[in-house]
Amino acid sequence: MSSNDEGSISETETRGYRVTHNKTDPGACRHGNFINYYQFHPAEERLRQLPRGVWHADPTDRKYVGLDVGCNAGNLTLALYDFLRANIDDSSSDNTDLSLLGVDLDPVLIERAKEGNDPNTGRDVTYKCMDFMAAESSGVIDEFLTSKGRDLFDVAFCFSVTMWIHLNHGDSGLVQFLRSVCEKTRIILVEPQPWKCYRNASRRLKRANVADFPMLQSLRYTGEMDTHVENILTEHCGFDKLTESGNNDWGRKLLIFKRKQTKCDNLIDLNE
Ligand SMILES: C[S@@+](CC[C@H](N)C(=O)[O-])C[C@H]1O[C@@H](n2cnc3c(N)ncnc32)[C@H](O)[C@@H]1O
Repeated sequence: MSSNDEGSISETETRGYRVTHNKTDPGACRHGNFINYYQFHPAEERLRQLPRGVWHADPTDRKYVGLDVGCNAGNLTLALYDFLRANIDDSSSDNTDLSLLGVDLDPVLIERAKEGNDPNTGRDVTYKCMDFMAAESSGVIDEFLTSKGRDLFDVAFCFSVTMWIHLNHGDSGLVQFLRSVCEKTRIILVEPQPWKCYRNASRRLKRANVADFPMLQSLRYTGEMDTHVENILTEHCGFDKLTESGNNDWGRKLLIFKRKQTKCDNLIDLNE
């Protein structure tokens, strides 16, 4: 960690990737890497929105393998693990090997996640620090899948992460992100942030005297973010909608989609 000119910002650099934490306002951050996220959004409360009956393990395989993208300090990842343990739907769920991979670009959060992952609980949860948008991320994902004898995850969770990808990588980055996740999973769950959160994120940066998101003004996917995410997944990633939840207390819903083809085709031109 080191201080920069702004004094209140600390930076951490891992594998060439730099993230910042604002000490005066921990809510002013560029990637949603809030250090105190679960004080405000308790993980257990968020499980209430999850439907039952969509978490099917293949009975011949007897494995259920999940990915949590943007796992922060791992609190929700562990809660998801316990939820899946109780809700995987197969004829012999007690015998299903459940494993989860949580990834986040912030090394401090990943360290915390590892510290909170008590090996005595018997949960098979692995955490890796990586930027999902970086080229080398697919190697980390593939290595994990191979270690589980798989090509695909059964489920990939994307809770409250799409806005940060969108703000930092633009419309094409959002599409690329969803395509990349879809290429690696049978089911994808997305909890998109409503558009007003984009404005709030920008306002907090400005208030903390930090440069705004440079791509914010050029975004074409604005307004109804749930609809944009749904259109990208169904029209450009080869997924069908399975179900969606109602809004939670802070106006977010869960959208769940299922792969309809073996490969993502019908892809759009990212340069258009
Ligand atoms: C608002 S938090 C949500 C945490 C968790 N998914 C939840 O909903 O409880 C967003 C997380 O996504 C992570 N993140 C943002 N962009 C990322 C990227 N490109 N690759 C990996 N993680 C990312 C941030 O570091 C942060 O921990």
